[in-house]
Amino acid sequence: MNRRPPPCTNCPLSKSRKNAVFGDGPHDARIVIVGEAPGRDEDEQGRPFVGMSGRELTKMLDEVGIRREEVFITNTVKCRPPDNRKPSANEIEACRQHLAAQLSSIKPALICTLGNVPLNSIIGKHSIGDVNGHVMEKDGSAFLPLYHPASWLYNRKLREKAKKGYEKIKTISMEKQ
Ligand code: URA
Repeated sequence: MNRRPPPCTNCPLSKSRKNAVFGDGPHDARIVIVGEAPGRDEDEQGRPFVGMSGRELTKMLDEVGIRREEVFITNTVKCRPPDNRKPSANEIEACRQHLAAQLSSIKPALICTLGNVPLNSIIGKHSIGDVNGHVMEKDGSAFLPLYHPASWLYNRKLREKAKKGYEKIKTISMEKQ
């Protein structure tokens, strides 16, 4: 399922985007994955994680026994920040309602955050290096902070540590709900 939002003009990213990238996956998924923001490929295609990071994510999920088609994949911010910069605090706030609506409609057993942007904006002030693979509960939902695929594309040494977090997705999602 490709859930598209009504055209949103809540922040200036709406002026530079080609496509809002709302998310992709089953509307009753047990697992939701939340990345940072769309990049160039995602902006072109209107789908999350279809570029290099996406290929790495799909491969990692596959290695830990999860098919990409079974999870709902989205981002903290639905429109591409120019030059792939980090989304600003204002952009994250302007977009918060879209992610909240998705999570309250899907009601997943587990929400996996990729990297520091969704970790800090949804769960709280932590560093992924400290909390990778540690389940956290907030407002009745279970969160699993994981490394963003871009982190191990940038530093291959991180991949093994990252995989230890991804290996927990299946068991934890089955324990919950
Ligand atoms: N990185 C993200 O965080 N999200 C995407 O959709 C693509 C790359």
